[in-house]
Amino acid sequence: MTENEPSNALEIKGLVKLYKGKRSVEAKRALDGIDLVVPRGSLFGLLGPNGAGKSTLINILAGLTLKTAGSVRVCGADLDREERRVKSSIGVVPQENNIDTFFTPRELLEFQAGLYGMPPKERITNYLLEMLSLMDMADAPTRRLSGGMRRRLMVAKAMAHRPPILILDEPTAGVDIEQRRALWAQIKQLQKTGTTILLTTHHLEEAQELCESLAILHQGHIAANDTKDNLLNQLDNKSLTITVDRDLRDVPPNLRPHGWTLEGSRRLKLPAAKASLSLGQMMLSVQVNGLNIIDIVTYETNLEDVFMKFTQSAAPDAPSNRQAYPTLF
Ligand SMILES: Nc1ncnc2c1ncn2[C@@H]1O[C@H](COP(=O)(O)OP(=O)(O)OP(=O)(O)O)[C@@H](O)[C@H]1O
Ligand SMILES: [Mg+2]
Repeated sequence: MTENEPSNALEIKGLVKLYKGKRSVEAKRALDGIDLVVPRGSLFGLLGPNGAGKSTLINILAGLTLKTAGSVRVCGADLDREERRVKSSIGVVPQENNIDTFFTPRELLEFQAGLYGMPPKERITNYLLEMLSLMDMADAPTRRLSGGMRRRLMVAKAMAHRPPILILDEPTAGVDIEQRRALWAQIKQLQKTGTTILLTTHHLEEAQELCESLAILHQGHIAANDTKDNLLNQLDNKSLTITVDRDLRDVPPNLRPHGWTLEGSRRLKLPAAKASLSLGQMMLSVQVNGLNIIDIVTYETNLEDVFMKFTQSAAPDAPSNRQAYPTLF
């Protein structure tokens, strides 16, 4: 990054999208004042349940949907005033594949680079085919590609004009586990070579594996926005569960002061936040009751817990909720 380059890849302020209703379709405020900053070089995840507004946000960045209000800057360029600069700075993989199956992958990538005015010398077609494991099918008609290969070709297509920012809407939807892992490695590789990546995903395991920072979108609002580690630390529901070899009617008296609870008749559970002893001491304090330990399970907070916490409740200021049931009580 040179001194004059902005440090943020994306700066979004007060972004609103109102889809106007048409006959049978109700009007929808899909984005209700989104503020979001994505630092240059980061691998940023946008999570949220179905209909939260993720694709709407991405489609606005891609120039596929017009925003209603707010401002968007991409690598310092304003979406309203410098549309061409914005377009050349981002490559977008939309949620739905839109590959023209008439072309071969190689032709498609060459054509795409040409569309952006990239001289043949600067094109990276072979590099992309190699990196996304598509070389074997480079000259085959695209209709012969499997779903996973098409998804990877979509990523290559988005990168054909060498944009500094790659935006992926559900990159691994419909991709099997093995290919998903391969695509994760390729996404990480792209980040290492300096590309900023913003992705949406429904696979929380994918977000946990890839993303350093995350925003959770819920009913058109940002419900949480922090580093992955901070989000995981916010919810301290780690626990230790020890299964013993005899039925118990209650927590043994020596364990009660430490906060153990009994689940069923044989499982003793201790929330990690309450654990003041080492694991060895805890095991001993169970065993002194003449109990044999037959299983130990530790539970770590994961992104699913965080996701549930921020998306189960109603969005705080969502207009549709402000006046919920005003006259019932
Ligand atoms: N073209 C459109 N016209 C009217 N409403 C729309 C349109 N596109 C999206 N919506 C509505 O806007 C809201 C947000 O949709 P969006 O596709 O952005 O959600 P999403 O977070 O991407 O969901 P998913 O996880 O299912 O992909 C939804 O209520 C959706 O029905
Ligand atoms: Mg979507």
